[in-house]
Amino acid sequence: MCYFSPDKTPGTPAERVNAMDCDIKDPGLAGKGRLRMEWAARSMPVVDRIKRTFAKDKPLSGVRIAACLHVTSETANLMVALKLGGADVRLCASNPLSTQDDIPAALVKFHKIPVFAIKGEDHKTYYRHILQALDHCPSITMDDGADLVSTTHSQRQDLLPGILGGTEETTTGVIRLKSMAKDGVLRYPIVAVNDAQTKHLFDNRYGTGQSTLDGILRATNVLLAGLKFVVAGYGMCGKGVAMRARGAGALVIVTEVNPVRAIEAVMDGYEVMPMAAAAPLGDVFLTVTGNKAVIRKEHFRRMKDGAIVANAGHFNVEIDIPALEALAGRKRRVRDFVDEYTLGDGRRIHLLGEGRLINLAAAEGHPAMVMDMSFANQALSVRWLLDRAKSLAKSVYPVPPEIDAEIATLKLASMDTAIDKLTPAQKKYLADWREGT
Ligand SMILES: NC(=O)c1ccc[n+]([C@@H]2O[C@H](COP(=O)([O-])OP(=O)(O)OC[C@H]3O[C@@H](n4cnc5c(N)ncnc54)[C@H](O)[C@@H]3O)[C@@H](O)[C@H]2O)c1
Repeated sequence: MCYFSPDKTPGTPAERVNAMDCDIKDPGLAGKGRLRMEWAARSMPVVDRIKRTFAKDKPLSGVRIAACLHVTSETANLMVALKLGGADVRLCASNPLSTQDDIPAALVKFHKIPVFAIKGEDHKTYYRHILQALDHCPSITMDDGADLVSTTHSQRQDLLPGILGGTEETTTGVIRLKSMAKDGVLRYPIVAVNDAQTKHLFDNRYGTGQSTLDGILRATNVLLAGLKFVVAGYGMCGKGVAMRARGAGALVIVTEVNPVRAIEAVMDGYEVMPMAAAAPLGDVFLTVTGNKAVIRKEHFRRMKDGAIVANAGHFNVEIDIPALEALAGRKRRVRDFVDEYTLGDGRRIHLLGEGRLINLAAAEGHPAMVMDMSFANQALSVRWLLDRAKSLAKSVYPVPPEIDAEIATLKLASMDTAIDKLTPAQKKYLADWREGT
């Protein structure tokens, strides 16, 4: 049952905001958060354009959105766009370590958007915040990793009849949701934002590539040049990380389980080998597979003294941390985001960011320039869903190609980049099978 209704809360709008249901670290950080939101907005011209259209047309009027995303300055700009479009929005974190605490403060104070997110929140608080976002009785869910959708399906089934649809931001979330649809348990349609070309070709590759190295460097300050850098997983994220690590002078080794991706890595010029072979060679290990226990006991046992281990995949299961805990005689925090585990024979292994997304734990996540396209997909996918929600099946839908094309066109224009147009003769040629040599 729905027990939160801002419309029915007594008092003037200002009084209702002062009594706003939210859970944030420090409202005093609002000024700093607003400046960071403004800084991000400068690199988000496509979202800015959507903000202006939404403010005029109000396509989300009366729609309640519960969003579970990394609470960053870029996400804040998306929330503002949705609100300008007429939506009533609530936000919680999609990862306990990814919240930038000044951003919730700014959203609450200057935009009257309730936020439930505190960097470093424990597991219990993380799920309490998800439930508080769901108390909003959303008609649309916006997820990054599918924790919001799975919590709705397992603990707030009473809300399901009122939900028209949802969107999903990341690869791991899309995998989980497709598995729910396959098992026949998904109860409303979802748009797989991750699968838009203007999302994964750029966010996963250039965003994760740059911000992951940023996170590793901020946490450790190591010199990458000359180090052996092992990347587990050669999907879009892995390709980006490998490319940027090589650019910094590291010797990159790739591990894979998919033979096609492995050949791609070989032909891109990387060494490819199993993790068991890479373990004694690597100085830095980075998992980005979306899978679990990719680095485990037998690998820790073979690593060099001083090895650095980090993850940029969605959940903190890619590195088998319980196995590392079991092997280690001693654990101490030696820097922010660096835990040193000393094994029985004296070797030290350094785990970064508690095995959570290192680009969001120790750095600021993807630059706004790339989140501009990801979040334009989010906003336009919500509008697309609302226009046809009643006719959609309880399934996972791709972002329509026309949205992809619209976003790419706007982004190019914002970069002052013009491209050619097909001539009528070329259009005809490409549509015709008769013309040959
Ligand atoms: N850090 C971020 O900001 C960020 C951004 C986008 C996506 N992600 C997450 O990163 C992960 C990867 O995303 P992607 O889009 O590259 O996914 P993807 O599915 O395209 O690629 C993952 C690759 O990992 C490989 N793999 C699976 N198990 C493996 C194993 N045991 N050893 C080695 N390789 C293995 C797969 O074969 C695949 O090629 C997902 O969890 C995604 O949600 C994180």
